[in-house]
Amino acid sequence: MPAGLLGIEELERQEIEAILARAKDFQPIQTQAQKKLDTLRGKMLVNLFFEASTRTRTSFEIAAKRLGADTVSITAAGSSVSKGESLVDTLNTLAAMRPDCIVMRHAASGAPHFLARHLAIPIINAGDGTHEHPTQALLDARTILDHRPGLEGLRVAIIGDIAHSRVARSNVHLLSKFGAQIVLCGPASLLPAELGCLAPGVHLTFDIREAIADADVIMMLRVQLERQHEAAFPAGEYFQFYGLRLEHLALAKPDAIVMHPGPINRGRELSSDVADFQRSVILNQVENGIAVRMAVLERVIG
Ligand code: NCD
Repeated sequence: MPAGLLGIEELERQEIEAILARAKDFQPIQTQAQKKLDTLRGKMLVNLFFEASTRTRTSFEIAAKRLGADTVSITAAGSSVSKGESLVDTLNTLAAMRPDCIVMRHAASGAPHFLARHLAIPIINAGDGTHEHPTQALLDARTILDHRPGLEGLRVAIIGDIAHSRVARSNVHLLSKFGAQIVLCGPASLLPAELGCLAPGVHLTFDIREAIADADVIMMLRVQLERQHEAAFPAGEYFQFYGLRLEHLALAKPDAIVMHPGPINRGRELSSDVADFQRSVILNQVENGIAVRMAVLERVIG
């Protein structure tokens, strides 16, 4: 199987450290006038997105271009998928055009893993169903490390729709490999008990105040309505019980940071003043997404 990036679970700690260190090298480039390198000149990346995306797709595209690669972005709505073509046939068609890498987002958990077994081209998982979103966890780790010397022993609260979140799963795998203490918090219908066994160091609570107490990092998640077949929680009550408000931040460490993978819904998972709070690093996450994806692309196709 060609080496792409399908998930955090299967990565060794040293591989993660190497990507995060390389991403740090790429951070200063993002604010320079001249942002373009030619490391991947002559390489072609195909972005294939079967689900909505603003950040991830743009970020992969910009990362590839900053490394000098060419990119093509395809969304399911404008492709022959909407004419009934199967996933394997779509991927085989794209593979016949000999790109060097396919970045793929799909609603089915395991879709990129299945295709990676059939195609000779490296595949990067940009989110598969409720399973993994490896580059999100890497950019989250890079962002935390911009504020803390290490991940070991950090108390990280992940709050919201855990059940449907590939961001939560990838973060749990990554943070637990580095010895962080992880608290997963959400309403019972969105916090299945088996998640407590996902990795060592994971604790579950339904109480947002308990989750936030003494936290170094508060990571909020969107309620993934598109994955809920029946409403798991009355929408109007969600913010009351699980929305992050300024008063909650007093429970966390004084220099705790607030994160969110985006897209954010102000007034649902967090209040507007928390979203714009000085210790909210939501836009730093977006910025780091490019540096991290440059490091991943260099590793996969460089
Ligand atoms: C996340 C995703 O698609 O899994 N978004 C992202 O990639 N930044 C989270 C979400 O959609 O809520």
